[in-house]
Amino acid sequence: MERMLVVGAGTMGAQIAMVCALAGHDTTVTDLTDDVLARAESSLRSRLDRDVANGRRTGDDVDAAFARLTFTTGLDGAASTADLVIEAAVEKLDVKRELFARLDKLAPPHAILTTNSSAIMSSQLADATGRPDRVANMHFFNPALVMRCVEVVGSSATSDATMEAVTELARSLGKEPVVLHKEIPGFVANRILGAVRDEAIFLLENGIATVEDIDTACRTALGYPMGPFELMDLTGIEIGYHAKLARHAVSGDPRDLPSRTVTELVERGDLGRKTGKGFYTYDESGDRT
Ligand SMILES: NC(=O)c1ccc[n+]([C@@H]2O[C@H](COP(=O)([O-])OP(=O)(O)OC[C@H]3O[C@@H](n4cnc5c(N)ncnc54)[C@H](O)[C@@H]3O)[C@@H](O)[C@H]2O)c1
Repeated sequence: MERMLVVGAGTMGAQIAMVCALAGHDTTVTDLTDDVLARAESSLRSRLDRDVANGRRTGDDVDAAFARLTFTTGLDGAASTADLVIEAAVEKLDVKRELFARLDKLAPPHAILTTNSSAIMSSQLADATGRPDRVANMHFFNPALVMRCVEVVGSSATSDATMEAVTELARSLGKEPVVLHKEIPGFVANRILGAVRDEAIFLLENGIATVEDIDTACRTALGYPMGPFELMDLTGIEIGYHAKLARHAVSGDPRDLPSRTVTELVERGDLGRKTGKGFYTYDESGDRT
C-alpha cells in the first residue's frame, strides 16, 4: 500500500488525503475543478500552519507531506497507479456507482476501492465493479485530521484479505480502526449519535427545551465535547438528512425519515456553519452570533 488516491477534495477528502500524506504515502487527491482543489490546498495549508505554530507538528513533517500530495482533476491518470482508493465524493448513489465503475476500469487489478460514505454501504457499490471482493467502506470522521476512529465495513462479498488490508492501513495512518462484522446502515458510531440526535429533536419539537439548553445539557451533564445541534451545524445538516433518507430507503420504517425540523432547514438551504445558518447563526468569521 504505497500510492493512495482520494476522490473528492471537500470537507472529508482534503483532510483524508493529508492524513495519508502525513503517514508517508504518495497521495493524489482529485476533484471536478481546479478551484475546488485550490480551496482544499489553501485550507490544508492554513490548518497545518496552525498545527506547526502550536507545536503539534514540525514544519519539516508538514513540508514533506505536501511534497507527497498531488492535487489534480485528472482522475484517470491518478487511478492507474493507485494501490488503494478512498472515494469521498458527494453523497449520491448514482455519482458513486459511476465513479466505482470508472475506478474499476482504471485502477490496477490489485487495488482496493473504498468509500468514505456515511450511509451508502459498499454492497450498494460493489456490483458496479468487477472486483466486489476488494470493495469496502473506510469511514473516517470529521475532522479527519483529528478524529481517531475509522470504521471498516465490508459487504458479504468483501474478502478477509481486503478487510485486513484496510484495517492495517487505518492503523498505519495513526487511526483506531473499528471493524464491523456485518454491514448495517449508519455503522456503529453514527447509529449511537443518531439515537442521541433523535432524542434532542424530540425534546425541541415538543417544546421541552431550547436548542441552546439541550446542547448545554449534553456538554455539561454528559461530558460531550459538543451538543447535538452544534455538531449538526458543524458537519452539515444535510449529511444527517441524507443518511436518514438512505436508511429509510433500506428499512421502509417511517421512524427512519428525517424530522420535520431538519427537513425544513435543508429545504431552506440552512445547512449549518458552511452556509452561515443552521440551528445557530454565524458571522463571516464563523463565530456564533
Ligand atoms: N462531512 C462529514 O462530516 C462526513 C463524515 C464522514 C463521511 N462523510 C462522507 O464523505 C463523503 C464526502 O462528504 P463531504 O462532507 O466531504 O462532502 P463535500 O460536499 O464537502 O465534498 C464532496 C466533494 O466531491 C466532489 N465531487 C463530486 N463529484 C465528484 C466526482 N465525480 N469526482 C470527483 N469529485 C467529485 C465535489 O466537487 C466536492 O468537492 C460523503 O460520502 C459523506 O457521506 C462525510
